[in-house]
Amino acid sequence: MRVFNTYDKLNNVVEENLRGIRVVKSFHREGHEESKFNHISQLIFNDFTRAEKRIAFNMPLMQLCLYVSMILLSWLGAKGIVASGNNPDLGLSTGELASLITYAMQILMSLMMLSMIFVMVIISRASAERIVEILDETSDLQNGENPITAIPDGSVCFEDVSFSYSRKADKPVLSHIKINIQSGETVGILGATGSSKSSLVQLIPRLYDTTDGRVLVGGSDVRDYDLETLRNGVAMVLQKNVLFSGTIKENLRWGNETATDEELIEACRLAQADGFIQSFPNKYDTHIEQGGSNVSGGQRQRLCIARALLKKPKILILDDSTSAVDTKTDSEIRAGLRAYLPDTTKFIIAQRAASVQDADKILVMDDGKIYAAGTHEELLETCDIYREVYRSQNRMTEPEGGADHA
Ligand SMILES: Nc1ncnc2c1ncn2[C@@H]1O[C@H](COP(=O)(O)OP(=O)(O)OP(=O)(O)O)[C@@H](O)[C@H]1O
Ligand SMILES: [Mg+2]
Repeated sequence: MRVFNTYDKLNNVVEENLRGIRVVKSFHREGHEESKFNHISQLIFNDFTRAEKRIAFNMPLMQLCLYVSMILLSWLGAKGIVASGNNPDLGLSTGELASLITYAMQILMSLMMLSMIFVMVIISRASAERIVEILDETSDLQNGENPITAIPDGSVCFEDVSFSYSRKADKPVLSHIKINIQSGETVGILGATGSSKSSLVQLIPRLYDTTDGRVLVGGSDVRDYDLETLRNGVAMVLQKNVLFSGTIKENLRWGNETATDEELIEACRLAQADGFIQSFPNKYDTHIEQGGSNVSGGQRQRLCIARALLKKPKILILDDSTSAVDTKTDSEIRAGLRAYLPDTTKFIIAQRAASVQDADKILVMDDGKIYAAGTHEELLETCDIYREVYRSQNRMTEPEGGADHA
């Protein structure tokens, strides 16, 4: 059992290494990673040798039993035959001894087999337990009774929501969040890293359940919706976006399996992805490598936005999804969303104040709380954090600002 647990660790090390091979190389950590691998291999080697030594003991022991029984049988049998003399009715005959030995052999052989099976059973039990553990795991997020199967509109309301990832955490990640957003509004979310912006929006498609309070979408608690309905209605472009190996078309159809080619192109135009896709020799049939490693970071982000748009969602959440896109393209994407998706509620998380400047409502998050909320003009007046972020970012883009810094 210990061997199998160590195997897990070995697999983890190998997987982590292969995924992060570029990082390992750039930090010149091949030696370190190799010794980590060697250390775990050595543990497996030691455990296996110990286990095999015990198993190896099994065979000679069984054979010892076998031969001792044969000798005993022969000795007792011989005595029996001699004692019976020439009268077979009194004791054992030679033929009977021969069959006795054959039977004993068969029984002992079966016992030997049984002991080998016993070892196998122990090994497979260790594996089976690990499989069953995963199969038996039930998700904390389950549909309620009579789930709602349609989202009426894209309004979102946080009713005194608190949330922590772990029940044991002493400080909640989100505390007492109260916001009310009308359907069709654009909401910008700004805040320092770690201020729980991603955690806040993850509660809308119910990737997690709140610890306290309720999140309402279209006027109903998210826990009352059918999970599939909810997640189809809420499209989210995650901060850490992922593409799968396959063509661009296949990747886009994750958003909507039945989308026509025209719909794909329209979504890509909105996400400003059509331009670079058309520049590829195979256009929409270009093959994407595993993890999207053959397109640039900004291209990957735009493909992920297009994939989300294809869902034709009621609510669209972009979690820092244009961080690798240049400012001009970023503003074109926002203009496109505003013009073509007027009824979709849009949440835009960004590090750049310019990305949220024209939103109907901007939330400034600080340490798991909403520090301030309002429009760009209101926040410039009243919110010191927003003013500071806006000023520092704008100064940097002005030419005389460069002189200041210098
Ligand atoms: N899966 C998780 N399990 C436990 N804690 C988490 C998890 N994800 C985030 N946290 C914690 O929650 C807090 C808020 O994280 P969150 O990702 O929401 O911040 P953020 O505002 O999105 O930051 P960033 O701008 O860097 O994306 C952090 O302190 C982080 O350590
Ligand atoms: Mg985040």
